[in-house]
This record gives sequence, structure tokens and C-alpha cells, in this order.
Amino acid sequence: FIVRPFLDPVPALPGLFISIGFSIFSLLATLYLVPALGPTFIQAHLSGRDLLKVYSTPIPESLGLVCASVYILALILFIPFAFSDSLTIRSTPTPEGISVPEFPHSRLSVYLSSLLSLLMATILGFLDDVFDIRWRHKLPIPIVASIPLLMVYFAERGNTHIVVPLPLRFLLGSLVNLGPLYYLYMSLLSTFATNSINILAGINGSEVSQALIIAISVILNDLLYLPWPVGFHLPVHLLGSKAEVEFGGVWSAGMAHGSKELVERHLFSLYFMLPLVAVCAGFMYHNWYPARAFPGDTLCYVTGMAFAVVGIQAHFSKTLLLFFLPQIFNFVLSCPQLFGLVPCPRHRVPRFDMDTNLLHPSKAQFMKPPASLTVIVLRIFSTLKLVDLTVHPSSGVILETTNLTILNFLLILMCCQVRNEFFLSCSAGLTIILGKQIGGSILAFTVRYGLAGLVYDR
Ligand code: UD1
Ligand code: MG
Repeated sequence: FIVRPFLDPVPALPGLFISIGFSIFSLLATLYLVPALGPTFIQAHLSGRDLLKVYSTPIPESLGLVCASVYILALILFIPFAFSDSLTIRSTPTPEGISVPEFPHSRLSVYLSSLLSLLMATILGFLDDVFDIRWRHKLPIPIVASIPLLMVYFAERGNTHIVVPLPLRFLLGSLVNLGPLYYLYMSLLSTFATNSINILAGINGSEVSQALIIAISVILNDLLYLPWPVGFHLPVHLLGSKAEVEFGGVWSAGMAHGSKELVERHLFSLYFMLPLVAVCAGFMYHNWYPARAFPGDTLCYVTGMAFAVVGIQAHFSKTLLLFFLPQIFNFVLSCPQLFGLVPCPRHRVPRFDMDTNLLHPSKAQFMKPPASLTVIVLRIFSTLKLVDLTVHPSSGVILETTNLTILNFLLILMCCQVRNEFFLSCSAGLTIILGKQIGGSILAFTVRYGLAGLVYDR
């Protein structure tokens, strides 16, 4: 069903084909520019050592800046094409008889505010690469970057209702209006999306492969809502009758939108996701094990903000969160280190054993006995086999813990299964990341379009 519209184009989708053209341009530009500009980045002292390799050749870092530049340039050049249907003369006579051309200003403000947020994310990411901004300073910045998005959402009379699952309806009714809390949730979404990819990092290709798979998942989800040629009615069958009148399918409710608006919003999402897939694919070629370029925080922030932008502006933030399941898991696991309960070393990536070429879970050491809350949290994590604790043989005081990341957890898990030393080769580590993210997306689609029907009416 993905190939069909290319053979039999729908008249309403010319922008989509131009967007695909821009994406091909973005892919080629990224493939060419990343190695071409690598030495310039090294000269500017933007380089790092690959922590999980025997060699210490400097690898150019922050090449996410090249990806972000190509991506944003493609989006800017695409603006006239995104509105090409409105550029043809169309006018509405006013009561005084004057003809006023119609132009979808609201769509333009959605597009421009999204670009603004992406530019802010690029600046923040690059500043982080150069200055290593502290956590407490960089966490709130994406919230500020999301204000233009939220203002446009408000101006559009964006929906702040959520549909209550069937089992809870006797208590809460069928709809709950979260009001300002919904805006708080959306601004936190931007912080989460930008940082969560960044903290699941350290293995070649990990950051960019997460972004690539989430972007492809969003595209697949968008395709379900397009006006497909006659004979293809997957969206309506899958999403139930509500999907025709209401964007966001069965999960959000309130304002009833026409199906044209539904299509427009998913087209908007596709316009932002197609070039993102292109730059990520182009960059992944150079970042694949053994990496010749590092993404830096710039790539993590821009891709994360792009997801927040489409989730908020196209009104599918809850579905989007389902594509972030591995990042949510990693974030929840990381919380004790991010919020200071457990020491957080500069790098939490697995430890590399040069002699055996194997990875081991890296550890955080306690300089003084941990507080009782920390002990409770770590004991729970340890019971769930999420961490491996080293305790003092006689006093039982926790001396060190494995770093609280999904990568270290996977290493612990493998050890439990094979009853052997911690092992994992670097390339196998990446395969696991990819598999985990793809598995997460399959689970997300199952929950969104399969299980949701069990707790929400169609
Ligand atoms: C985040 C993680 C940190 C992890 C780091 C790895 C948190 C709170 N922070 O920090 O634990 O160690 O990412 O990116 O979870 N590098 C590699 N191989 C790669 C990618 C990066 O060795 O494939 C190393 C390089 O030395 C590079 C450095 O990581 O210079 C980049 O780190 P940076 O992205 O600045 O780290 P943070 O995002 O601050
Ligand atoms: Mg980083």
C-alpha cells in the first residue's frame, strides 16, 4: 500500500512528491558533506575519542550540525511548495464586494513556529557540544523553545481533552479536559524528546538509529491517514469511524475536525519527517560502527525537537510517546542518576575491555554511604535485575552500582542468561539497540491500533 499512490497519485498530494524530492537532495547532501566537513570540525577542536575502541584517533564530533543545517535548509526551501495549493489565485468576496485572496495563515504559522523551535534546538545542541551545559541548565531550555508551538496550538483552538478509557468512564465520564495541564504536558514532551535520545548514547550509531526508526514509525503512522486511492481504506477500518472526523483517532477527542484537516496535519508531519529520515540515513552511513563521525548533542536535540513538533502540531503526541518506549524506559531507569540520588559520572556508556574487545556494565561509585531513599530505590532496581550492586561484604553498605542505563541493563540481562562473564561485542551492542527500537515501534503500533480498541470505543 506504500507503493500504490506513487503509481496512481492523488491530486491532493503534490507537495508530498516534492518533499520526497527534497529528501533525496538532503540524503545526498548529508552523505557528501559529513566526511567533507569532518576535518574542519577537527580543526575547530570539535572532536572526541571513541570510548569503546582500542585506537584513539580523534573522530569529528557535532556533525549533527551539518544534518540540522541540511534539514532546516530543506524545510525552508520547501515552504513555497508546502503552500503551493494556496498560491493559485483564489478569492472570497467580502460584503463590500472586494475580493480578498484566501491564504491559510494558520498553517503557515504552524510551519514557521515549528522551524523556530527546530532552530532553537540546533542552537542549544551546538552550545551543549561546545560548552557541555549542566543538566539543570539545559533541561528547561527546550520548554522555552516549545512556547511558539504551544501558542500556535492555542491559537488554533487545539484540543486539551483526553478520552477516558472505558473501564474508568463510570468515574470520570467519557472526556476529561486537562486545560493548562495539557500545555504543561506538551512542553515537557519537548524536553523529554530532546534529552531522551541523548542519554541513550555512546555506542556507534545509537543516537541516529533511534531517531531514524522513530521517524520511520511516525511516517508509517501518517500514511494511515492519507487519502489513498479508491479500494484502500485501511485508516477508516483500523481507526474506527471517529478517525474520519477527528484527528488523533480514538485517543483524543473534543473538537471535531473535517477529514481534510486530518489529512493536512499528517501531510505536515510527513513534510517534517521525510527529510529527517533522509538526513538521519545519510548520517548513519558515516556513524555506523566503526564510526567516522559523531553526531554530538546537536543531532539529538534537533531530531527530538522535530518529533515534539510533529507530535504537538499534528496532534498525535500520545501515539508519538508510544514510539519512545525504549527511551521512556531508559529515562525512568536513569532518573536516580539524573536527579542526584545516585552519582552520575560524565560517561555512563558500558566499559570497554581493550584486551578482550568486550563491553562490561560501567559502574558509579559511592564516595560515602548512600541515603536511605537511594538504598530503597537501588534495592528495588536490583530485585528487578535492572542493576548490579557491589556491597560491602560485612556491613552490607552499597559501594557501587552499575550505571542506570538500558545498555548496562542489557549487559546484565545477557550475563544472567548465559551465566558467563559480561560480554557483548561493540557491533552486537548496536544490533541490540536497533532491534530494541524496532521492537518498541512494533509494540507501539500494536498498542495504538490493536489494544486501544479494547479500552476505547470505536
Ligand atoms: C551522554 C550520556 C553519557 C554518555 C554520552 C555518550 C547521560 C546523562 N549522558 O552524555 O552517559 O557517555 O552521552 O555519548 O546519560 N562517544 C563514543 N561513541 C559514540 C558516541 C559518543 O565514544 O558512539 C563519546 C565520544 O568520546 C564523544 C562523547 O561520547 O566525544 C560525546 O559525548 P556527549 O554527547 O557530549 O555526551 P552527553 O550527551 O553529555
Ligand atoms: Mg550527547
